Amino acid sequence: MCGIVAATARREVSEILLEGLRRLEYRGYDSAGMALIDAEHNLLLHKRLGKVAELEQAQAMTPHHGCSGIAHTRWATHGEPSAANAHPHLSGNRVAVVHNGIIENHESLREELKGQGYEFQSQTDTEVIVHLLHQQLEERVEFFQALKNTIARLDGAYAIAAIDAENPDRVVAARAGSPLVIGVGIGENFLASDQLALRQVTDRFIFLEEGDMVDMGATRLHVEDASGAVVERTMQRVSAAVETVDLGGYEHYMLKEIHEQPRALAETLGLEASHQVEDERFGAGAGAIFDQVKAVQIVACGTSYHAGLVARYWLEDLCGIPCDVEVASEFRYRARARREGTLLVTVSQSGETADTLAALRGQGEDEFIASLVIANVDHSSLVRESDLVFLTRAGAEIGVASTKAFTTQLVAFLMLAIALGRRHQLSEEATRELIDALHQLPDCVSRTLQLDADIKRLSEAFILKNHALFLGRGIQYPVALEGALKLKEISYIHAEAYPAGELKHGPLALVDAEMPVVAVAPGDELLEKLKSNLEEVRSRGGELFVFADDNAGMKGDSRVHVLGMPSCPAVIQPVVYTVALQLLAYHVAVQKGTDVDKPRNLAKSVTVE
Ligand code: AGP
Repeated sequence: MCGIVAATARREVSEILLEGLRRLEYRGYDSAGMALIDAEHNLLLHKRLGKVAELEQAQAMTPHHGCSGIAHTRWATHGEPSAANAHPHLSGNRVAVVHNGIIENHESLREELKGQGYEFQSQTDTEVIVHLLHQQLEERVEFFQALKNTIARLDGAYAIAAIDAENPDRVVAARAGSPLVIGVGIGENFLASDQLALRQVTDRFIFLEEGDMVDMGATRLHVEDASGAVVERTMQRVSAAVETVDLGGYEHYMLKEIHEQPRALAETLGLEASHQVEDERFGAGAGAIFDQVKAVQIVACGTSYHAGLVARYWLEDLCGIPCDVEVASEFRYRARARREGTLLVTVSQSGETADTLAALRGQGEDEFIASLVIANVDHSSLVRESDLVFLTRAGAEIGVASTKAFTTQLVAFLMLAIALGRRHQLSEEATRELIDALHQLPDCVSRTLQLDADIKRLSEAFILKNHALFLGRGIQYPVALEGALKLKEISYIHAEAYPAGELKHGPLALVDAEMPVVAVAPGDELLEKLKSNLEEVRSRGGELFVFADDNAGMKGDSRVHVLGMPSCPAVIQPVVYTVALQLLAYHVAVQKGTDVDKPRNLAKSVTVE
């Protein structure tokens, strides 16, 4: 999604800005741009549709240099992907703005500004910001005050950074609803929407709070909060090494990340030393909070939401406590009945998903006893704003399709179920069995990865299909949901998942010889029921692709393809079967020739509503 990088220094910053954009590329974008103020106080601009490499090429052909600048990768919301709609946007050839988020009242502002003679060069909501700012500057309002007056006119969510040719040594910025972090250097200061973009130049960061405004020079930092009071935000040193995010010999990041799962799962588990789930894994004070938990409310989006759906089965079964799971964009906008002693659990790979963050921030007073986030990115907004934190150890996930983040989230949830369960109905013996099962997980996943060639063969049947159904029962139903999401997002095949028992209540009408039906069918207690559902498909000419272990006793024929899964403890089957479905989606997408790591229209981190 959109990314911001800005710098003001005593040295030339164009390469710092470009490197920052490169580091944000994995988030997904469609165009990129950079504006600099040169030594003669000219505002210089490069914008390109497409990759940062195109921008680099423009810079190589016509080098622009300057000590202050802003840069951006854009993921289209208002207006098609194009060079004209790419940021930075300029006004009066003196001021330039980059923006993440959405300005909701942009239409009325656009009309007002047009009435004042401003000509719009783009279809973006952002362009109103730069003209408003220009208008203030032309009225001789001081630069920082001009930004304050401008944002007072805006409704919506934003992170904004601006430069002005007549204030060449400054960058001003504001944050409301989209993340922004200051990178503190020696004789230079930086800004970015994600600290990762700046790890090349500093390890000292100030994470801005909602409503903060910044006025910075190379040796000067001034931050005001939403009320206009001058504030000193804490500087944090982020010392963890930046992971190398190369392909490591794999054809795609997604494939690499699928294969990294045994390691990621083992590191997330980290149980070697104690053979216990320590409350402290969830943060200081977790034990005292867990003692009070009588119910759990999980809120998340996309794949992370599916992790929550799997977790509900564990939390209710193992702990005997009620658990609700809801998509964040729905949760945040509805009136909710309270349940005493409820723990709010948000789940997010990025820790920056706008709807999930808004759900956390929008909780009612005393609605929950505490908030816990399961996240993969340290220092992210959800991590900083939650009471308790479980950090998954998936490592950087670059592919837009979430794989190792999902399976490590499941591990986190199973550990949460153990931690809460021993306060309720989980016996010591059952706890031991669960931990033993968790220890088997990396090996079961490794054995699933060895089925790669078989799954690839199976995938060939999907290449010419337009639709697919995924079926599961019980805890395998959310696994089917996740399998369908993976297939649709990277192969663009329309895929839907149903609880298998629902088939005859509607979706069975879709089944014919052209409809591949994928079934998640481990030999569990619902298998016999599932088999009847699969018969319903078979007798209507549907082609079945059944993922089943030996215990399931599934027999294949010309219309029933059985993929023999490794036998593993029932409780970890959702993780293991998910890995097989990830491989299925991957191979279908590769053979269809789609952009596997950056599927069309999608972004890695969804920081707008
Ligand atoms: C999954 O493959 C997705 N690309 C998407 O659904 C993702 O899980 C969702 O946007 C939530 O992201 P988060 O985990 O970073 O909050």
